[in-house]
Amino acid sequence: MKILITGGAGFIGSHVVRLFVTKYPNYQIFNLDKLTYAGNLANLTDIENSENYTFLKGDITDAAYINGIFSEYKFDAVIHLAAESHVDRSITDPLAFVYTNVIGTVNLLNTARQHWADNMKEHLFYHISTDEVYGSLGEEGLFTEETAYDPRSPYSASKASSDHFVRAYFHTYGLPVKLSNCSNNYGPNHFPEKLIPLAIYNIKNNRPVPVYGKGDNIRDWLYVLDHARAIDTIFHEGKLGETYNIGGINEWKNLDLIKMLCDVMDEKLGREAGESRKLITFVKDRAGHDMRYAIDASKLVNELGWNPSVTFEEGLSKTVDWYLQNTEWLDNVTSGNYQSYYEQQYEQR
Ligand code: NAD
Ligand code: DAU
Repeated sequence: MKILITGGAGFIGSHVVRLFVTKYPNYQIFNLDKLTYAGNLANLTDIENSENYTFLKGDITDAAYINGIFSEYKFDAVIHLAAESHVDRSITDPLAFVYTNVIGTVNLLNTARQHWADNMKEHLFYHISTDEVYGSLGEEGLFTEETAYDPRSPYSASKASSDHFVRAYFHTYGLPVKLSNCSNNYGPNHFPEKLIPLAIYNIKNNRPVPVYGKGDNIRDWLYVLDHARAIDTIFHEGKLGETYNIGGINEWKNLDLIKMLCDVMDEKLGREAGESRKLITFVKDRAGHDMRYAIDASKLVNELGWNPSVTFEEGLSKTVDWYLQNTEWLDNVTSGNYQSYYEQQYEQR
């Protein structure tokens, strides 16, 4: 089987690519990535010479390029992760999110539909999405697959739009699709603009750890390898046309999470207990900041037998160890363009 994985040089995509390349030596895995600031081939050095792996540098919005690779490689399936993924960036530059997340997705759907027209049923388009499409929860309740869409940031609006297009291609053209909507991931290769890797980077370097608002927003955290395992399960066992919610059953208030991370870092860095907590700095809140996300993953658990395998304590410890051991990776991604974006964000607060 030939599988096109888009966004495979990014955070989650790199774990999905590695899982598929190593677990399925008889599959040919093609990783298509534009290598934006978030894409990094250093995430894949351990598998880059595998016989069943090919990297393709390209942009999912480039119709001629996408058509060309579908003609050349004749993919059986697509797992689509490529996206602009950071909410704060979507507030500064919404159009970049429309181009990649909406137009890029429709471009892939269109090309797949044309190339697979003669034997549509033998193919699969699997779209990776987010729980943010469901909006924001109050103190009670969980997002289920039936929760009405209510995206509230430019990022989640662009992902919701892409989800609707994927379903529209299923209903209108019979394109075989699957979707999954996942909660917040954390783990190795996570770009240090997102809360957990940013906090690790800042604590390590004795810089302020920015907490938006009062730090009482809640997220449901899942170790990235458990997301990759869920994607593997849904790709192979999920029903066509269906959506599966993926979550960690692991809700944390941002401030509590950051305090715990500070304590883990104190221990690993040999600092005095409580030292890193002094770096916690309350900053201006994110515009339109969603209060709470929490996923009901019972459909995936009951129908397909998936369960998270890594506890939050284990996952956080492994994640911190990875960042402390991979200082070159961290130094590389925190230099150049990223550094200037980061400094600019700080100035705005
Ligand atoms: P990421 O930002 O780390 O990686 C995105 C990848 O897509 C990068 O390698 C980037 O170079 C590539 N890319 C961006 N624009 C492209 C384009 N126009 N053409 C080709 N490649 C392009 O993102 P991530 O956190 O790994 O998220 C991957 C997917 O999972 C996204 O669709 C995101 O919406 C979804 N998701 C993420 C989370 C999370 O917590 N990070 C949770 C649920 C769902
Ligand atoms: O829920 C899934 C989503 O999770 C994914 O679809 C997104 O791609 C991913 O980026 C993530 O979105 P969040 O906005 O929840 O993640 P982020 O790490 O940016 O923020 C997590 C929480 O921490 C959120 O409430 C905002 C807050 N925060 C974030 C940063 C970067 C801070 O308090 N300080 C910060 O510096």
